Amino acid sequence: MSISQIARTIRTSATLRLNETAAVLRQKGEPVIHLGGGEPKGRAPIEAVTAAAALLDSGEVRYTPADGIVPLKQAIIRYTEEFYGRLVAPENVIASGGAKQAIYVALQAVLNPQEEVIFPAPYWVSYPEMVKLLGGVPVPVLPEDGTFHPRLKDIEDRVTSYTRVIMINSPNNPTGVMYSEEFIHEIVDFCERRGIWLIMDDIYHRLIFDGRRPVSAYAHTSKDVDSSRLIVVNGVSKQYAMTGFRIGWAVGPKELIRVMRDIQGHQTSGPSALLQWAAVGALKGIQSSVDSLRLTLENNRNVMMDRLNAFDGVHVTRPDGTFYCFADFSNYEKDSEKLSELLLEKVRVVTVPGKEFGLDGHLRLSYCGSIKEITEGIERIKWVLDPNAPNELYIGERKLVRDWT
Ligand SMILES: Cc1ncc(COP(=O)(O)O)c(C=O)c1O
Repeated sequence: MSISQIARTIRTSATLRLNETAAVLRQKGEPVIHLGGGEPKGRAPIEAVTAAAALLDSGEVRYTPADGIVPLKQAIIRYTEEFYGRLVAPENVIASGGAKQAIYVALQAVLNPQEEVIFPAPYWVSYPEMVKLLGGVPVPVLPEDGTFHPRLKDIEDRVTSYTRVIMINSPNNPTGVMYSEEFIHEIVDFCERRGIWLIMDDIYHRLIFDGRRPVSAYAHTSKDVDSSRLIVVNGVSKQYAMTGFRIGWAVGPKELIRVMRDIQGHQTSGPSALLQWAAVGALKGIQSSVDSLRLTLENNRNVMMDRLNAFDGVHVTRPDGTFYCFADFSNYEKDSEKLSELLLEKVRVVTVPGKEFGLDGHLRLSYCGSIKEITEGIERIKWVLDPNAPNELYIGERKLVRDWT
């Protein structure tokens, strides 16, 4: 088939593909445990549902401004004041079809073909593909000290005259690690000095554990929003369990947001009016669902860590937030794709290969499901890998017998 050169370089989203695989297997009645998921299981806040239902009920669902409806912008302004300590204007805000579109449109607004975008590895699977879609060059940077904490020096060493953007995601998908305030300070300062755009992907910033507080990049620049190089991205998907609603946003300099609005206007127009109203409902509603989600995830994280720490040969960095951990299984299998396939085939446990995030030998394991899924999932993985495990395993009524060594 004749497709474009760029299209030929784009990989299927591994996480979306695995969701489909899990759904197909479940439909066939297979006892799947999905440790590869990227979304909390709870219900969307009631205020989100009623706000969208009210508009739907009116039957008048129209186009919206390309950068979002005024009430949503107002809610985002309030959010920015509360969590970032900055009072921004409506012209500093754009609502998009998920944080994903906000990031993509921001890149479209600033990146020229051949220019480079630096981001720490392991990274979210979509970063390199988004950059490639725009004809740019992704530059993942794996911390040299073997941790998941990038240092400014790691990044500085990779900066060239083609570097246009640095993207930071903290707490991080897939490691769950939250970067230090010192690092955020350094990177903000570095980007301001060097005139490099800094995209802060803060999609998990309210899902942080152990009483820690999210870091606001705006607290680390003395510049005002319009003269800074900061683009702060967020959304309702993760914190309100509203992944299917597809509403995210970006806050940045007015001049940039205007360009993003024009691009988005030709690309998709404004996001669905119904879903924008749902986001208004969530942002203005009672916030206790975010707290209870965070507490549930923190408890799940603790259970996942206990189980993994009791797993000989597996090394894992304790996540500070998100609902992922990134465990090193290289003592058992260095090829993470092979390992992930083996676990799916033998015990129907879905995991995401570390290769997809730029680091082989690891698996991303999610703890956004139930405690039962976490404990049983890890038990099944252990049964496959641990040579000392008993020869048989029961999954419900089904008896599995180990036929490999
Ligand atoms: C790091 C990161 N950024 C952005 C997104 C996209 O979020 P949204 O659902 O708002 O598009 C995700 C989703 O998995 C993510 O993990």
